[in-house]
Amino acid sequence: MSSQIALFGGAAVGTLVLLNVLLKPKTFRLVMMGVTAGAFVGGTITYINYYRKHSIKASFVPLGISKPKLNFSKVQPEIYSHLSTDYEERGELDLGEEHITVKPNVFAQIGVIDVPGVRLMWTKHILPILRDTYKTSNLESMSLTDKAVEDDIVFCDIGSGVGNVCLQVLAETNCKKTVGIEVIPSRLRASVVATENAKKAYPEEFQQKEAVWIEDDLANCSEKLKKEGVNVIFTHSWMFDDNLMKILSEVIADVPSIQCVITSRKLDDQKLAKTNLQFYSKAHFTADWNDQAPFFVYAVKNS
Ligand SMILES: C[S@@+](CC[C@H](N)C(=O)[O-])C[C@H]1O[C@@H](n2cnc3c(N)ncnc32)[C@H](O)[C@@H]1O
Repeated sequence: MSSQIALFGGAAVGTLVLLNVLLKPKTFRLVMMGVTAGAFVGGTITYINYYRKHSIKASFVPLGISKPKLNFSKVQPEIYSHLSTDYEERGELDLGEEHITVKPNVFAQIGVIDVPGVRLMWTKHILPILRDTYKTSNLESMSLTDKAVEDDIVFCDIGSGVGNVCLQVLAETNCKKTVGIEVIPSRLRASVVATENAKKAYPEEFQQKEAVWIEDDLANCSEKLKKEGVNVIFTHSWMFDDNLMKILSEVIADVPSIQCVITSRKLDDQKLAKTNLQFYSKAHFTADWNDQAPFFVYAVKNS
């Protein structure tokens, strides 16, 4: 330390001597006055800051999304190793399930939103909407973290296929509970096996989480959604017809806890008018059938 002070002192004296030799006496005096005034002001500010006590305690609330717990792109192949190529080539149907695909109100074509698509939906749409909802209903929301918002989400995928979206949400966010509704039994069974695999392979991340899987036609599900406390709905409904969209809108209108809906096809306007939800924005996510698959986003009206 003392050698550093000696070095600094030597450099300062050397600079002064050099300036004295190089500059005219009047210029030298001016430079010296400037240096002295600068040193005085700088020193005073440093001194005041050193002794000053902050009257307001700074609180640090991280902005943006919380760090993903797991990378679902890596997890997915491992927990879905039970899906055979034959099953995938049959369009994720078991032999003998074909008759279900021709039942009324069943549109069994598979089509998946991909991993980055789910992330975009979560961070740019679901979290901001729920954060806004909390802000208007909770005065303590100034320090609301993404974790606090995610903790309260019960996410439901209507037409959950083999469960990829729900399991990604559980893997990568703080959301503790998801609900998947699917009409094709083998897809539901695949979701259950994938959940068991995830709990075995990643106990720390999955053990405290709950994945509820319901095998049923979505038309019968409003009581189940209420019972599970669902507040966010996603539905990759691009192949649903107008009638099924009406039924879906009726189900949604029957569940007052819902705060956000993301659906490929528009909700029915008349049914929507009976709810506290309103159209919020359009969104585009990457899916296996379209890099810019369009979605409609609905949010609860903030009073
Ligand atoms: C396009 S896939 C979506 C898969 C997954 N949610 C995703 O986005 O990656 C739509 C799913 O909705 C299911 N589905 C179709 N009609 C249904 C109905 N009436 N009730 C419940 N599920 C239905 C289909 O079987 C299919 O698995």
